[in-house]
Amino acid sequence: MIQRYVYGNMIETDTIPVKPEAGNEPLPGFTVDEKEHSFTYPLGKEDRIYGLGENVRGINKRGWIYQSWASDNPDHLEDAVSLYAAHNFLVVDGEERFGLFLDYGGKVTYDIGYTEMNRLTIRVNDFNLDVYRISGDSVLSIVQQFREMIGRSYIPPRWAFGFGQSRWGYVCEADVRQVVRKHRELGLPLDSVYLDIDYMDSYKDFTVNPERFPDLAGLASEMAGQGVHLVPIIDAAIKKEEGYPVSDEGIRKGYFCTDKDGKPFEGAVWPGISLFPDVLNPEARKWFGRLYKVLLDMGIEGFWNDMNEPSIFYTEASLEEIRTRLMDTVGATPDVNTFFELTGIIREVFQKDEIYDSIYHHVNGKRIRHTDVHNLYGYNMTRAAAEAFETLAKDRRILLFSRSSCIGMHRFGGTWMGDNKSWWSHLALNFRMLPSLNMCGFLYTGADLGGFGSDVTEDLLMRWLELGIFTPLMRNHSALGTREQEVYRFSDLDGFRHVLRMRYVLLPYLYSEYMKAALDNKMLFCPLAFDYPEDRRAQETEDQLMLGDSLMIAPVMQQNARGRMVYLPESMKLFRFLKDGKAIETVLGPGDHYVECELSDVIFFLRPDHLIPVSSGGNCVAEVDFDHVHFLTYPVGNEACYEYYTDDGISRQAAGTRILYRMDEDGEVKALPQ
Ligand code: NOJ
Repeated sequence: MIQRYVYGNMIETDTIPVKPEAGNEPLPGFTVDEKEHSFTYPLGKEDRIYGLGENVRGINKRGWIYQSWASDNPDHLEDAVSLYAAHNFLVVDGEERFGLFLDYGGKVTYDIGYTEMNRLTIRVNDFNLDVYRISGDSVLSIVQQFREMIGRSYIPPRWAFGFGQSRWGYVCEADVRQVVRKHRELGLPLDSVYLDIDYMDSYKDFTVNPERFPDLAGLASEMAGQGVHLVPIIDAAIKKEEGYPVSDEGIRKGYFCTDKDGKPFEGAVWPGISLFPDVLNPEARKWFGRLYKVLLDMGIEGFWNDMNEPSIFYTEASLEEIRTRLMDTVGATPDVNTFFELTGIIREVFQKDEIYDSIYHHVNGKRIRHTDVHNLYGYNMTRAAAEAFETLAKDRRILLFSRSSCIGMHRFGGTWMGDNKSWWSHLALNFRMLPSLNMCGFLYTGADLGGFGSDVTEDLLMRWLELGIFTPLMRNHSALGTREQEVYRFSDLDGFRHVLRMRYVLLPYLYSEYMKAALDNKMLFCPLAFDYPEDRRAQETEDQLMLGDSLMIAPVMQQNARGRMVYLPESMKLFRFLKDGKAIETVLGPGDHYVECELSDVIFFLRPDHLIPVSSGGNCVAEVDFDHVHFLTYPVGNEACYEYYTDDGISRQAAGTRILYRMDEDGEVKALPQ
């Protein structure tokens, strides 16, 4: 059951397509303080808190303070409070069980047992919001009701489940060709190559650098011939430049955000001084979305939207402030205090709230302060593109994912987890974020495999890919200046080939489970606690996840480990696929097990009386035979069924077929007549 509570007058977010009627009763269990703008709930000893989407720390969010405030924060450390997204949905599970969603575009703070261990306090910037309380018999039913209310999650084309290679540093056609050639020559599966900002002309969106990419349409078609899609980046900021049609037209039509005097707001990002499309304004959103056409017309079928928190490096005023403050230190005693003051000045000014306070949107005749809707920006940039694609690419799905997001955007695109680092702890963070993102409707997601910042090691990349083969977005991406981390740069090519190939072997199951999760509003990755709610050990397990209906995954996330401890809430069959082609199946009873997993082994666990469809692989998704699948099974004496979803992988309607496969007591699998 869902109850809506209205406080003040919210600024519309368009998150909930059909809103339930609001009641007049108070929000049960919470002390609501209108003056303090806060909601307080006493936490029971056993209460666990799940959700909040893209965030640092654990699956159980208890014990920290988090903030919904979309931030370009490349330091995904334990003490971060916000990353790029703002996902205002959580579930309290314990003495009571309910979900809470705050429909609100401004800053929210969740103090979950930080100030006081037994208190949850949610504080909003101003008291104009709708709150939804969702009750149900289980966490899964609460999540499903919530997901039904917010609408169907984004569905990408099926090729977007293939492996993608990316690097900030592919600066010309030759770089792209080299990646594809290497993959094809070495038999390393590949479906896409990503183009970072260097494909543009002076970092201007919707332009192509004429020297370095003289014929992008030709390149796209050449790549398509090899089963590879090019996926260019689009940044939120538009270079301010006379003669650049996007800048000129946007200014002329009043489609950019303004400053307090009504002049286009100016802030600097990669192209230097830039303007920010007012994507909250429906007309400007329509205009911005249609700009993607120029790339669609070149044969591009996928995009990643970046820097859309929006990230603003500085404004003229903030740069001036830095200068003045630095000048003020001239002549000061050169001591430790001056040193720390100097090093702190730039950090303090970078992305400070005052910059956002000085930006305005114009929505249906009303002027809205950016601060009150900050978290909706990346969502609406992505929505702009997705809405345009509905007419520009009527018959087909376009790949689209964004760095910043807010619940609501899950209908329009996926999201990646931003600028992580080549750290083992970030591999584990990638893992833990998956179920929280799914709860908030984000199914198409993944992290930069291998890590974006800092230098990867061969074993970290291998282990990260062993997780990546399960995440819908499977992309190796790294930053300019870091160690090159394409798989072919390392020695164990057989190992990498095997791991990548396993992705394509598992694709029939992964795609089928993804589609059912999207169409039926279900989780794809579940904490064990959701599937085994009575099992205390399951409640505390944060390094194993259920994947779809049949599998449990438990990747190795520790350097130099040749295996790991795994907790089984029930008997399961362990599958271990080795790079020499061997597959070892071992039935394990409930409880703790040490499971061997050498560097390039792929392991997963199948639940009893379950089965999964697999293929014999391919070098790209187009080569995978989704119509003739075979099954991995674990029969324990009962009949079991698997509902296999399949479609053409490209039509928008996603009106595929669901074939029921029945496994008899002996493990024989047959399709039931439809
Ligand atoms: C920041 C993004 O998070 C990263 O993925 C990208 O490579 C850089 N911007 C450069 O465009």
